[in-house]
Amino acid sequence: MTRAELEGWLGRRFARLTTNAVVARPRLWRAFRWLTRAQFDRLAPVWDSMRRPEAFAALEQALDALPATPKQVLDLGTGTGLAAFIAARRFPEAEVVGVDLARGMIEQARERTPPELAERVRFEQADAAQLPFEDGAFDLVQLANMIPFFDELARVTAPGGHLVLSFSAGPETPIWVPPERLRRDLGAHGFAEFADFEAEGGTALLARNGAPR
Ligand SMILES: C[S@@+](CC[C@H](N)C(=O)[O-])C[C@H]1O[C@@H](n2cnc3c(N)ncnc32)[C@H](O)[C@@H]1O
Repeated sequence: MTRAELEGWLGRRFARLTTNAVVARPRLWRAFRWLTRAQFDRLAPVWDSMRRPEAFAALEQALDALPATPKQVLDLGTGTGLAAFIAARRFPEAEVVGVDLARGMIEQARERTPPELAERVRFEQADAAQLPFEDGAFDLVQLANMIPFFDELARVTAPGGHLVLSFSAGPETPIWVPPERLRRDLGAHGFAEFADFEAEGGTALLARNGAPR
């Protein structure tokens, strides 16, 4: 194994360890935050070269299933903004905010924003565990390969709004949460009407904020 391969392996192991720990005990996030941020700051310049073109196929399937067109979209753990750009292209009326903890990722996302999307897409550095947004600010919150912080997801998703959690390589994704765990924790936070999607080896879960109509 080369040094680069070893670093990649360790990084993926650390991401899974962090995800498992924080989903089980969100308070542990404080202990993982700085290393996570350093890890993704370091990866930011090469992140896009690590993405497969079909990485967001399952996310797109879930977006296809939305019953209404969202107007305010939050892409959490946006990285270089690829999923934020997908949402902006798909929903031409929507304002899209991409949030990431790592400044390096935010800088890449801003640099890569296509001019035709620049008026509707913005990127902010923030922590998904403590978001700088009003309650119910977004009618669509999407996460691609990102640790879910359930309290904040429930707070910033509008009543009746939707949440999509997607994982580009399904259970092989370093940041991955088993679907039954997602359903359980999301259900406990008021989400319902779950739907699963699979495409190109990826998975996604769609949920609505609020009791079934
Ligand atoms: C695996 S990458 C996914 C990036 C992008 N969504 C994609 O699929 O290409 C996870 C991203 O989430 C960010 N992240 C991790 N924890 C976060 C947090 N608590 N708040 C905001 N961003 C976070 C990382 O900095 C990283 O850019």
